[in-house]
Amino acid sequence: MPAFRLAAKLLTAATAITLLSIPLFSTATTFGPIISPRNPYIGQNGLATMHGDSASSDTTPFAGPGNATINSNRSALQSACPTLLGTSDGYIFGLCTTIFGQTPTIHLFDSQEVNSLAELAIAKGNILGGVYAYVDNQDNLVLTNGDNQLLRVGKSSTNGNWALTITYSLSLTPIPTGDSVVGLAPDWQGYVWFATANGLAGYADPATKNVVTLPLNTTGGSVEGVANSISTSPAGTLISTMFATYLLTHNDELDAIKVTWRQAYDRGPARKPGQLSWGTGSTPTFFGPQSGYEYATIVDNASPLVNLLVYRTQDGSQVCKVPLFESNNSGSENSPIGSGRSIFVASTYGYPYPALPAGAPPSQPTSANFVGGIERVDVLEDDSKGCVVKWVNNNIRSSAVPKLSLADKKIYTFVRQTPLFPDSTSTGILDNYYYTSIDSETGSIDSKQYVGAGFIFDTLQMAGLINQKTLFQGTVTGVVRVRKA
Ligand SMILES: *[C@@H]1O[C@H](CO)[C@@H](O)[C@H](O)[C@H]1NC(C)=O
Ligand SMILES: *[C@@H]1O[C@H](CO)[C@@H](O)[C@H](O)[C@H]1NC(C)=O
Ligand SMILES: *[C@@H]1O[C@H](CO)[C@@H](O)[C@H](O)[C@H]1NC(C)=O
Ligand SMILES: *[C@@H]1O[C@H](CO)[C@@H](O)[C@H](O)[C@H]1NC(C)=O
Repeated sequence: MPAFRLAAKLLTAATAITLLSIPLFSTATTFGPIISPRNPYIGQNGLATMHGDSASSDTTPFAGPGNATINSNRSALQSACPTLLGTSDGYIFGLCTTIFGQTPTIHLFDSQEVNSLAELAIAKGNILGGVYAYVDNQDNLVLTNGDNQLLRVGKSSTNGNWALTITYSLSLTPIPTGDSVVGLAPDWQGYVWFATANGLAGYADPATKNVVTLPLNTTGGSVEGVANSISTSPAGTLISTMFATYLLTHNDELDAIKVTWRQAYDRGPARKPGQLSWGTGSTPTFFGPQSGYEYATIVDNASPLVNLLVYRTQDGSQVCKVPLFESNNSGSENSPIGSGRSIFVASTYGYPYPALPAGAPPSQPTSANFVGGIERVDVLEDDSKGCVVKWVNNNIRSSAVPKLSLADKKIYTFVRQTPLFPDSTSTGILDNYYYTSIDSETGSIDSKQYVGAGFIFDTLQMAGLINQKTLFQGTVTGVVRVRKA
């Protein structure tokens, strides 16, 4: 144990030296590192996946717009843009689709502008909720389309005219018709892992085009559907189904997938209002103070209170189970933020979605007010003693997936409020949306500034992207850019 501590100290010191220009470790709380060693097959951490990196930490090494006066600009695209990914050379891919169902379209943006430079429609197939993607180490977009083809899309410009082109495709043939990919991430060997709505896990080797799969089942044999994205670390691939969390690795000799561990969780009696499926709403998150992946975490769907569950990545043993929020706001469709010893969870209980994915079962209760709330839980230094709630703020009605900046230590999100009755927990189509930054040490709001009103500004619990002090946020009808005025 002392040797372990010493190694940790040395590692922190070394990291601090290489990152001298970014004051990550200057105050009481040490966040980060973002998974280390970094995934060689994805682009820039913080920008390359919907949740920032392949750990799905929902952190960014970049500072956000901060608490000075901001201005905002909106690009109307007549589609929801749930996936915004950045390249290392300052461009943004937006994956947009009319809410749950129409043609998915890739847009290309310059990170300082909001108008679309180029667009490319991709096959819709029987896609349910959208398309899933990441940016690779060559700044290409890697995604699956509705026909379960793995695609690589490159950007190029000729005389200032931008184009998006498909440069690689591979049919993921073991996926049956009627099923679709819902999560996609490369591992440390360059295999591209995926999980499907009907509970098939797999990976593709882009070089040999070999595709290997494994059905995920309950002990009774019924299919464990997947409704959220997946995460990878040097320890393996993390997938949360509607019943359990799995850590999977590949066995090259047998050309097969190995279940390193499986941990079932309490999925409750029904889907909760503000959730899109009957199960966890989390993309499972790797985090930890030394390597960035010692722990894995999700939020379950227990009733009346959901629990934050933290596992040791190595063997799946449980570090802690912490009930979150109150019975009127206990539920989360968001991926938790995980960094260092800290986890942040936003409540989405009662959040109104204009549509639900096909096949989503009815919720119990049918509907609920949207109270909101963000809670921070820290794993204790001696993790055999579990975790501690650091703060809860039930007065933040977060309407986007919050992101933690490791540079300025603020949490960035949007807040939704009813005009005239800012304390009301009801929602309506005329609600106001505010750019919001939160102090990660205390949970208090640092800055809250009006951006827009009404349905067109609904940020719909989608993930924003922070790059070079600019926040890009998808809405139901396009993209909003926020930066210091
Ligand atoms: C962006 O918004 C600001 C006001 O918030 C406005 O002055 C500016 O003209 C807008 N820029 C563009 C490119 O629309
Ligand atoms: C799931 O069920 C199939 C068919 O019964 C079986 O071949 C497979 O091994 C099971 N998978 C797991 C992970 O238990
Ligand atoms: C939510 O429930 C808690 C605990 O019962 C209560 O203190 C709080 O006032 C409720 N909040 C709202 C907005 O109804
Ligand atoms: C604004 O941000 C700065 C820099 O993080 C911080 O020092 C200051 O306390 C913040 N202001 C408020 C009102 O929180």
